[in-house]
Amino acid sequence: MKVTVIGTGYVGLVTGACLSEMGNHVVCLDVDARKIDILNRGGIPIHEPGLEAIVARNRAAGRLQFTTDVAAAVAHGTLQFIGVGTPPDEDGSADMQYVLAAATSIGRHMTDYKVIVDKSTVPVGTADRVREAVTTALAARGLSMDFAVVSNPEFLKEGAAVEDCMRPDRIILGADDERAILLMRALYQPFMRNHERLQIMDVRSAEFTKYAANAMLATRISFMNELALLAERVGADIEHVRKGIGSDPRIGTHFLYAGTGYGGSCFPKDVKALIHIGQAHDMPLQVLSAVEAANERQKHVLVDKVTARFGADLAGRRFALWGLAFKPNTDDMREAPSRVIIEELLRRGAMVCAYDPVAMPEARRVLEAMEREGGLSFADSAADALLGADALLLVTEWKEFRTPDFDHVKATLKQPVVFDGRNVWEPALLKAMGIEYHGIGRAGAAD
Ligand SMILES: NC(=O)c1ccc[n+]([C@@H]2O[C@H](COP(=O)([O-])OP(=O)(O)OC[C@H]3O[C@@H](n4cnc5c(N)ncnc54)[C@H](O)[C@@H]3O)[C@@H](O)[C@H]2O)c1
Repeated sequence: MKVTVIGTGYVGLVTGACLSEMGNHVVCLDVDARKIDILNRGGIPIHEPGLEAIVARNRAAGRLQFTTDVAAAVAHGTLQFIGVGTPPDEDGSADMQYVLAAATSIGRHMTDYKVIVDKSTVPVGTADRVREAVTTALAARGLSMDFAVVSNPEFLKEGAAVEDCMRPDRIILGADDERAILLMRALYQPFMRNHERLQIMDVRSAEFTKYAANAMLATRISFMNELALLAERVGADIEHVRKGIGSDPRIGTHFLYAGTGYGGSCFPKDVKALIHIGQAHDMPLQVLSAVEAANERQKHVLVDKVTARFGADLAGRRFALWGLAFKPNTDDMREAPSRVIIEELLRRGAMVCAYDPVAMPEARRVLEAMEREGGLSFADSAADALLGADALLLVTEWKEFRTPDFDHVKATLKQPVVFDGRNVWEPALLKAMGIEYHGIGRAGAAD
């Protein structure tokens, strides 16, 4: 099938690559010429395991192309995926300007039947706005043409995006147009050879499903983070509590980890957007407002522990920070808790030396001012970051940080103090080694 993907970011690039892997002819369009240039020179603008090989293979086979040429891209695909960003507007609502610009581009250039597929995460009712934008652009050309708009939200996880895209848990399709449903079913058939994964529903329910999924996951995280703070007060260990409740199949083990708060490009903005949708419909979402407030508080918990240990004034102190990306296996720094933590430490006069296995180039780009002003530096290795530091803060649970050489950590730090923002280390083991351990919600473990 011929597919166009508008927006070649995390979602667009992975979707385009995986669709081409199944034999489709895919053209990925972006307005960012730098990104398209990198791709056309054989590079990959993001870190995503497995993506480079799949892109290279399908480019070489002529099934995957990258362009900034809107007219050519729109002319190519019967299926037009919209995968552009939907960042939060000032009031928390999803900013729809990129989605509507993409829709307008399609209307300006289409010459035959198209199925327009909203893959971006968008508020309920967006398909109607996309339809309107396309119709208006066609009318400006003096044309009226047949097309369908369907909702096909994306559930991939950064860090496992290719795997998720190739083996989706479910494919949600919101559509009311039989021809579009047939085409979408044919497109996704190779992704569900062993069992049916397609759930077809009305467009609004599909749009809503994506927000509901992210809101539920964010709720679990904030719930556990809040209980972790209480665990500290009552002398319990949230890690025991996590395992104790997670073994109940009604609860399950996923997304129950206490930490430094959720981040990334999706949960914060999608929770905000859903709260905004609730307000707009006179239906305040009280649970989600609390989820968001708890997350804001949680981002400061690690620094609160640092100041409780070293004092509010951190002038002259130096901290090693392991992990910058908002989670392992990605270089995405959007809304990463590390950003809040670094900013707070610097504001209190401390110096920070950070290390991340893959996110350092992106971190350098987004934290450029802090590096320039001298408070923040980047180390070439996890071990180098420790040099001259008063304590170590673990912020992202990359595998290489799971079992570090603690003898070396102890010998290198000025004082053997660690703040484990992800509860990946064993408090009793560290205590036995003479390392002072501070986790999240682990008062019970420290006794
Ligand atoms: N990143 C994720 O893990 C993830 C997962 C599921 C859903 N989503 C949703 O998918 C959407 C895209 O997210 P992302 O992380 O891929 O964003 P991104 O910022 O990585 O990529 C968006 C791309 O769209 C391009 N773009 C903007 N306007 C354009 C236009 N008019 N024409 C062509 N290209 C245009 C931008 O230049 C950018 O490269 C968002 O709605 C997001 O919520 C993201």
